[in-house]
Amino acid sequence: MVEYSALIEPDRVHSAIFTSDEIFADELERIFYKYWVYVAHESEIPEPGDYATKWIGEKQLIVSRSKDGEVGVFYNRCRHRGAAVCMEEYGNATFFRCPYHGWTYNSAGDLVGVPYPSRYAELDKSTLGLAQVPRIGVSSGFIFASMAEEGPTLEEHLGLAAGFLEDFVKASPTGKITLSAGTSKSVFHGNWKFVGMDGYHTNFTHKTVLDLRQRKAGPNFQRGAGNTDKSANESWDLGNGHCRLDLTGRDKIAVGVAGNTAIGAGIPDTPDGHAYMDSMVGSYGDDAADVIRKSRDVHIHVWPNLQLIGASVRVIRPMAAGRTEVLSYPAMLDDVPESINTTRIRSFEWFSGVASFGTPDDVEVFERNQIGLQSDYIPWLVLARGLTPEPVDDGALVGNVTDEVPQRAQMSAWLRAMTNEGDRG
Ligand code: FES
Repeated sequence: MVEYSALIEPDRVHSAIFTSDEIFADELERIFYKYWVYVAHESEIPEPGDYATKWIGEKQLIVSRSKDGEVGVFYNRCRHRGAAVCMEEYGNATFFRCPYHGWTYNSAGDLVGVPYPSRYAELDKSTLGLAQVPRIGVSSGFIFASMAEEGPTLEEHLGLAAGFLEDFVKASPTGKITLSAGTSKSVFHGNWKFVGMDGYHTNFTHKTVLDLRQRKAGPNFQRGAGNTDKSANESWDLGNGHCRLDLTGRDKIAVGVAGNTAIGAGIPDTPDGHAYMDSMVGSYGDDAADVIRKSRDVHIHVWPNLQLIGASVRVIRPMAAGRTEVLSYPAMLDDVPESINTTRIRSFEWFSGVASFGTPDDVEVFERNQIGLQSDYIPWLVLARGLTPEPVDDGALVGNVTDEVPQRAQMSAWLRAMTNEGDRG
């Protein structure tokens, strides 16, 4: 029996939380099989009959849209003797037929066919549909599931984070994104909690990125200036483990957006760039420049497993104490000129893909972290940077970008979950 309150202190944590198999098993039960966990985006199953298979921890799920258009999240487990009924990652089907003995379920999860039924004395098909995950919720098109019958609503769990999900999709003039440009997948030998919002590592782990940016920008490049203790950039604790980095220097740097002409702020001065800007002004009026700034500013971790970073959606799947899968999806904007989305894919490939200049260095350092943590003669890790973040009006806590505000926010939510105290509300 682990005494969790002995492992987390206000300014340090015990390394067993990253290496212990017993703690990992408890994390699955107390966090991933209980809290609201992101499973899919609505755009992955746009049509009736569309489905996608996803994972929460060790449990595989089918996220499906029925012929009536309803989204369902089902455990991928036949009600006969338990075989997984669907092994494709994506598809469209009117039914799922179990490969073992042929029991067949429709896209709403109902059992609709059983071979040779006469040998059953009694078989009430209406009670033998695929088991549904007890609770499903959607926020800005992001589908979440909770395996707990009861608990805080999705709205209560997301709290301040919901507004940032909305900001992310409002990069589209119609407020819609589509995850249609493929998935970058990787598995690393490290703990799932390493994949966080860390504004302290950038100038060191991402030296290659800075070298390349400097080569491109020339001698006037202010190398790494946004990632120091003197930067106007910030780290935020949004409550319930959700946290973010603000890399635009909130209210201090105009990020190149002047009035409603954002051309030059990453939006190309081309006919497509102007068409995009015009449609944003058409949708959001005088707020268009601010909407664009906020949509470019999203750098958020929705605890425990979803991150929105730049133009991408990143999903974290814990597989073992020392093994984690990360899936990254470039988010395409609906109703924009094609070249705007091409630019988003290029930027994703540059930093976030498995063969990019950014993510491989993160993965390398995560694996070194896991190696280092095995040598636990002195097991405590220091999380003491910026211990007194400032509260802002909406209840968030804000520190310098290099502060360990996000790490402490996550550890605090983790401790509440592991001691069954729940969301802070
Ligand atoms: Fe599925 Fe038998 S296990 S039909």
